[in-house]
Amino acid sequence: MKLTVPDLGKPILNVDVVTDDLLRLMPSGTAPPPASVALLLTALAQHDGHTYLHSLRVGRRAWRLALALEGNEERAWHVYIAGLLHDIGKLNLPRALLHKPGPLTPEEWQMMRCHPEEGARLAAFAPDLTLFLPAIAAHHERPDGRGYPRRLLEPEIPAESLLIAVAEAVETMLSRPPYAPAMAREAIYRTLLAGAGTRWTARLATLAAQDLVRAGSSAMPYEAAGRAAGSSLPLNGPDSSPFL
Ligand SMILES: [Fe+2]
Repeated sequence: MKLTVPDLGKPILNVDVVTDDLLRLMPSGTAPPPASVALLLTALAQHDGHTYLHSLRVGRRAWRLALALEGNEERAWHVYIAGLLHDIGKLNLPRALLHKPGPLTPEEWQMMRCHPEEGARLAAFAPDLTLFLPAIAAHHERPDGRGYPRRLLEPEIPAESLLIAVAEAVETMLSRPPYAPAMAREAIYRTLLAGAGTRWTARLATLAAQDLVRAGSSAMPYEAAGRAAGSSLPLNGPDSSPFL
């Protein structure tokens, strides 16, 4: 099935490519990915192409960080799925809000800040996604207790959420969302280290910074294959300048 980004008016990476990647990385003895994942990602792609692509990148990057952190393939694979679903609550937000240029009003921020719990509420309708609800609900919490929506402290935040949070930060800084310019990788590296222990756990911030240097900006190795098959993806941030 060919998906089109409504706001970009061009075809984008097929959900089948993502589910194939999940199957390829699935550790032996693990149950296949929940069927609801493809369903929700398809709905997200149709609602907002930018959030869809962001979710694929966050999922893949969070998987890579989880594997580097613990070396546990099964846990990393579950983090991948949770990452794919982390922003699913944005299905309930108007596209005009998601694409609004410039700062949000206090009322708009209030709506935006509901998306983690909205996502968990939405995913709760699918019995095969129960395992992922806590990670979705807490993906904007911070170790220093200044996150949202519940201002949890680090010990209360699911490990999956901590991984998704740092992967999401990197992808947001790398990509070109409609409302902000991308950052150079060197600036992202510095931002990660500056937020170590407050915005992200010190270990994850360091790991994400090292991963940025080692692996570069691409979180999705299948991106080139998607392009060859006729899909197109907006490129990740400026890679032309030498980094470190
Ligand atoms: Fe989010």
